[in-house]
Amino acid sequence: MRLILLNLVAVASLLPGVVLVSDARADIDKPTKFLNRGGVVNTRHNLTQSTIGLGSVTMNSYRNDYGEVCVYCHTPHGANLQIAAPLWNRTASTASYVTYDQLNTSTLSQEVSNPGPRSLACLSCHDGTLGVDSIVNMPGTGGYSTAQQTSQNDTFLNNSWTNPSGPDASVHMGMDNVTPGMGCLACHSPGSMVGAQATDFTLFALGTDLRDDHPVGITFPTSGEGFSPFNLPSGGTADLLFYDNDGDGRADTNEIRMYESGGGFEVECASCHDPHGVPSAGPGSTHFPTFLRADNANSNLCLTCHIR
Ligand code: HEC
Ligand code: HEC
Ligand code: HEC
Ligand code: HEC
Ligand code: HEC
Repeated sequence: MRLILLNLVAVASLLPGVVLVSDARADIDKPTKFLNRGGVVNTRHNLTQSTIGLGSVTMNSYRNDYGEVCVYCHTPHGANLQIAAPLWNRTASTASYVTYDQLNTSTLSQEVSNPGPRSLACLSCHDGTLGVDSIVNMPGTGGYSTAQQTSQNDTFLNNSWTNPSGPDASVHMGMDNVTPGMGCLACHSPGSMVGAQATDFTLFALGTDLRDDHPVGITFPTSGEGFSPFNLPSGGTADLLFYDNDGDGRADTNEIRMYESGGGFEVECASCHDPHGVPSAGPGSTHFPTFLRADNANSNLCLTCHIR
């Protein structure tokens, strides 16, 4: 704790030099230094933060900078076998979630299960229980280890591993929304020590209580009583249902989808969001805000599934 406070003070003294660029897209996205175009490297999911200048140096004490964008989520070899997400390099969160059905709205008709892999992948950062740099397979010389295949927690970060690729963080933070003043929100929230200078991420830290979020791990009705207020997806494989807007038989990144992970086709975080960002009008164009797969102007995204 003492260490963290000292670091905060050190950083705070740097801050008067930080100028927040006011952004032309602020009306359609949370203010950001990233361009949100071209690819994941220019989005907030680039955890090296290599493209935003001084802000990235500011964070070096709080997360390992592995120098590679994909590696915070994927690895080409030695991926995490505990979770059915593509070549997944993150520690799997072992948190138990309060699911949306526990809010007991009387209108919900579909079954809600624990979040599926395409939600757990996101929650491994967004539920705040793990460091954002908690990965299975570290890049660089001597970093390879399979220890994380069995112990799905991030205590190893403080004990046995040093970052071979760049600055080795002194504390490994997550998007903790439970302990005031701790984790990334120590700076990235209003009223924090240096809050005025860092973007407010309070809304992005979902926590483990999912009652205030659109249901995930919820079955999508394709027939029967619950189906009537929904549009029928036009494309599908054994594991995926999708709204095939361009009729090419493939689930393109800008097409809303449902995932089958053992309990029927379900809505997950990645049904509505693509974590790499989706170009809104061809490659090189501005991404849809907040990693959405489709523009939600006029609630178009909602109306892809719902008939209202
Ligand atoms: C913040 C985490 C994150 C980062 C960073 C990231 N990915 Fe992904 N990626 C995911 C998740 C989650 C999925 C599964 C989402 C889905 O179902 O579409 C995925 C899926 C994929 C897929 C398979 C599905 C698809 O969309 O085609 C490929 C290929 C892929 N990622 C490549 C990359 C590459 C290459 C990079 C680096 C340039 C990268 N990703 C960076 C989280 C990430
Ligand atoms: C490696 C950690 C990590 C993973 C995995 C991850 N995120 Fe994020 N995400 C972040 C960080 C860091 C931010 C920046 C804000 C913050 O720190 O709270 C962010 C921001 C976002 C934002 C806000 C973006 C904006 O510019 O407004 C959305 C939406 C989002 N994530 C959705 C997702 C979804 C959906 C998934 C899974 C498909 C996912 N994330 C997986 C770390 C992650
Ligand atoms: C000591 C304070 C501090 C801590 C702790 C901190 N940050 Fe930051 N962060 C900053 C400052 C200052 C900036 C530059 C101003 C800005 O862009 O918000 C910044 C910028 C960012 C940005 C770019 C924001 C944008 O879109 O322009 C991201 C993403 C980010 N931080 C993620 C994180 C994550 C994830 C953590 C936890 C692992 C974290 N930060 C911890 C101070 C901090
Ligand atoms: C049914 C579609 C849908 C699902 C499922 C969904 N989201 Fe979102 N999400 C949205 C939309 C739409 C927005 C933009 C809201 C806005 O503009 O304020 C959003 C915004 C966000 C944001 C930015 C903060 C905010 O409140 O604006 C984050 C972070 C995020 N989602 C993460 C997730 C994660 C993690 C999951 C899975 C647990 C998830 N989302 C599931 C549709 C969805
Ligand atoms: C991928 C398909 C999909 C998308 C996109 C989607 N939903 Fe849903 N939504 C569902 C399913 C499935 C349910 C569960 C319906 C049920 O149980 O009767 C649901 C349930 C709901 C409920 C009812 C919750 C309750 O307690 O009865 C509301 C309200 C809702 N969604 C709003 C939205 C909004 C607003 C958006 C856009 C931001 C959206 N949905 C986008 C599939 C989707």
